[in-house]
Amino acid sequence: MGISLSVKIGKLSLKNPVLVASGTFGYGEEYKGLVDINKLGAIITKTITLKPKAGNKPPRIAETPQGMLNSIGLENCGSETFIKEKLSFLKTLKTAFIVSIAGYTKEEFSKLAKRLEDEGVKAVELNISCPNIEYRKGKLNFSQDAKSTYAVVRQVKKSTRLTIITKLSPNVTDISEIAKAAEEAGSDALSLINTLLGMAVNISTRTPLLGNITGGLSGPAVKPVALRMIWEAYNSVKIPLVGMGGIMDASDAIEFIISGAAAIGIGTANFINPEASLEIIGGIKKYMKENKIKNVKSLIGTLKCPTRN
Ligand SMILES: Cc1cc2nc3c(=O)[nH]c(=O)nc-3n(C[C@H](O)[C@H](O)[C@H](O)COP(=O)(O)O)c2cc1C
Repeated sequence: MGISLSVKIGKLSLKNPVLVASGTFGYGEEYKGLVDINKLGAIITKTITLKPKAGNKPPRIAETPQGMLNSIGLENCGSETFIKEKLSFLKTLKTAFIVSIAGYTKEEFSKLAKRLEDEGVKAVELNISCPNIEYRKGKLNFSQDAKSTYAVVRQVKKSTRLTIITKLSPNVTDISEIAKAAEEAGSDALSLINTLLGMAVNISTRTPLLGNITGGLSGPAVKPVALRMIWEAYNSVKIPLVGMGGIMDASDAIEFIISGAAAIGIGTANFINPEASLEIIGGIKKYMKENKIKNVKSLIGTLKCPTRN
């Protein structure tokens, strides 16, 4: 049986729905030789900012039951070094790439997006949901507020013709409200979830395990939360969703697709098994064959829900 795995996200045609999540696959080149990158649906690169960023105080990683906390703080080489040293490799790939970007203002987002568009980039993921910057100063990240979400997406939409994927935070009361704001502002797709804000304590020293005190939780522990948010977003917007959060194998990925994700992102699993994404592609194909599903698109959002009281 011929099987079609291709999906469309904005103007991007992806050969399959399996992407690697931002911050867990570097700028692609780091995984050259380890993984057949061209078999992936797309790479989402580590978030970049206009200027280089040093990131947060160490330790930046702590293991937790069924997951990990990170407080990297968007350490990155800045847009000009990215363009000079990282972009040429990404352009050689026979698969799509999406550049994740962040800024402190909506103008920074649009300036960076425009700069990348001028260099031939086709798609950006707007990281408006990093839990590790400015948190202690009490500032919200943009995606914790519908109006701010709208403003950033709108600004990038007005300034470029790029495919825009807006990455949402799970650290909100009502994900539907934020999803709708991003859609209304012109986002072509949404990705969710970024990490859940958490912390861990060393009881001998009574100190936090992370240098930044709080960090973002990822891995299997967050999967039920991510899945619930995908389902809620799917019921609120029409644009495609890239689902992520705790996906470790094909069965997890299929749960996300059934709940409404048009594509899925693999994050923490890359640190355990760099080939996890390729195995997941194989597992999705196997499931489709066994269930006589010809086109992966026909599986999206097919959750059969009982009526609730
Ligand atoms: C070490 C680490 C670094 C991350 N860096 C970024 C980042 O730079 N930008 C971003 O949007 N998300 C970043 N994330 C979040 C992931 O892209 C993803 O949304 C999240 O980890 C949930 O997926 P997972 O449970 O499969 O890891 C990072 C996650 C981890 C674990």
